[in-house]
Amino acid sequence: MASQQFMIAPSLLSADFSRLAEEIQAVTEAGADWIHIDVMDGHFVPNLTIGAPVVKSLRSTTRLPLDCHLMIEKPEKFIESFVKAGADIITIHLEATQDPATVLKEIRRLGCRPGISLRPSTPIEKIYPFLSIVDVVLVMTVNPGFSGQSFMTEQAEKVSLLRREMIANNHRALIEVDGGVSPETTKQLRDADVLVAGHAIFRSHSYSESIRQLKIK
Ligand code: DX5
Ligand code: ZN
Repeated sequence: MASQQFMIAPSLLSADFSRLAEEIQAVTEAGADWIHIDVMDGHFVPNLTIGAPVVKSLRSTTRLPLDCHLMIEKPEKFIESFVKAGADIITIHLEATQDPATVLKEIRRLGCRPGISLRPSTPIEKIYPFLSIVDVVLVMTVNPGFSGQSFMTEQAEKVSLLRREMIANNHRALIEVDGGVSPETTKQLRDADVLVAGHAIFRSHSYSESIRQLKIK
């Protein structure tokens, strides 16, 4: 069963990078459930962002789970540093490593919650073999790399297919959706549990009002 309300994970990629601690505190007070941190390496995606040292320095700014979305090649090289930095959820991309299962098990062994994600061009069925070993499945509704892109409507179907597959096999992972999420697009995502939102929150006039609206199923 999907939850009654969406949980909301503001994506720091759209925040003011010169005031990250204040931005995190503001969305924490505004009702956010997780803090989504986009880690990019300039190889897996055509953009560079932040790494584990920044996560470490942000750890003390909130009690909320830090949801680290690794858009990097060979994530196995960096798992330990994100665990040590204080990540709670570490999501890797299926396409970024030869052996996702080993990396996911290592994330759990080190004490974090493992998540798996896929690009829009990857069929959802490719995720199914990993459903029993992850806590989160992150469905991308834009091509990873940048915030503020348009929601890819045709990707929304993956969320329903995934929910059906999880119910049929009694899998308990949370379904998270990332990319172009706004109060207009949430209607297509009722089978999700957690929504990531960058522009829809950080470019709004009121963080609390935009989070409140996004939570409505
Ligand atoms: C894109 C990132 C997203 C992005 C979401 O590669 O994974 O988390 O920041 O931003 P919006 O909600 O503006 O699409
Ligand atoms: Zn993301």
